Amino acid sequence: MEKEGKAMKVTPYEVSGKVDYEKLIKEFGVTKIDDKLLARIKKHTGEIHYMLKRGVFFSHRDMNWLLDEYEKGNKFFLYTGRGPSGKIQIGHLQTWYFTKWLQDKFGVELWFQFTDDEKFLFKNKSYEEIQKWTMDNMLDVIAVGFDPKKTHFLIDTKHAGLMYPEAIKFAKKITLSTVKAAFGFTDSMNIGSVFYTSMQAVPAIIPSVLKSKNIPCLIPLAIDQDPHFRVARDVYPKLGYYKPSIIHGMFLPPLTGIEGKMGSSEESSAIFSTDSPKQVEDKIKKYAFSGGQDTLEEHRKKGGNPDVDVSYQYLKMFFEEDDKKLQKIHDDYKKGKMLTSELKEYLIKKINDFLKKHQAAREKAKSQIDKFMFKQ
Ligand code: TRP
Repeated sequence: MEKEGKAMKVTPYEVSGKVDYEKLIKEFGVTKIDDKLLARIKKHTGEIHYMLKRGVFFSHRDMNWLLDEYEKGNKFFLYTGRGPSGKIQIGHLQTWYFTKWLQDKFGVELWFQFTDDEKFLFKNKSYEEIQKWTMDNMLDVIAVGFDPKKTHFLIDTKHAGLMYPEAIKFAKKITLSTVKAAFGFTDSMNIGSVFYTSMQAVPAIIPSVLKSKNIPCLIPLAIDQDPHFRVARDVYPKLGYYKPSIIHGMFLPPLTGIEGKMGSSEESSAIFSTDSPKQVEDKIKKYAFSGGQDTLEEHRKKGGNPDVDVSYQYLKMFFEEDDKKLQKIHDDYKKGKMLTSELKEYLIKKINDFLKKHQAAREKAKSQIDKFMFKQ
């Protein structure tokens, strides 16, 4: 039986309920990625990434304008980020591996922001603990394989000298009521949280500030982060900059079922970048919500439902690149030819192969942090 659905909520500070992406597209006023745009991207990349083909990255703002500029020789840069409050899980990695593909295919720079200020202000954690997570999380970002020559890390409190003057210019253009409406904040929030969106906006213009000319920006993100940049897109033209373009990804669901998004706070709902093969196996076997039938006999007869099956969704959204293999798993599972236990075994192997490589790169990353840190 499916769980009774909670109402959908999607903000940078809460994602809950069954996410209806068609509805989100309307509510957020974003544009669905269509075949025409995919064909246009393919002209430059030579291939279409499986996450685009499968609609995992599904909507955008101003990608056509961005490509117009690119075709005129006005190259964009990429910008994304991480709020370092805990371990990295596979939902984060999914966005970043896609971002790496964009960097490789378009040959562009990436600016990566670590919002230690944000997590200090929004979470019940000490400044020191957040610093520890900043160092830890940088290893995962480096392990993704971004080009060190083209990738620049910004840490909000460390690069404050560069960022703060831009943040105050931004902040002066937004009212408290705008922030309250965009983020659902109440009067009991601390005043740092109210200011924070100004810091998240800044990397979208930093290259333009440094080069004293406007450079287009593309922000790959999971769609809960969109409200920050909706505000930024209103403000930046008033300050003489381009509006940043955005490409939106879906949320990788938590292990426990396809509502909400994978979070870092609960061991039982997430797979972390540092999990051992045994931990991955145990979590998938124990927690991954199954779309299969209750008994073997019933499953063979009626088949499973890949749409609500978390293991299948992980394969589709991230871990099975091969379209043919994915289709076969889909069909076999639906027909009852493949069992939940077999599907889970397959996913466990896929994740563990992936994490083995990622973790080896993560080890090596320890000596590379300095290369990625932005220095003026
Ligand atoms: N606020 C994001 C988080 O909580 C981090 C972040 C900063 C970000 N800048 C970004 C995410 C740009 C996507 C794009 O993790």
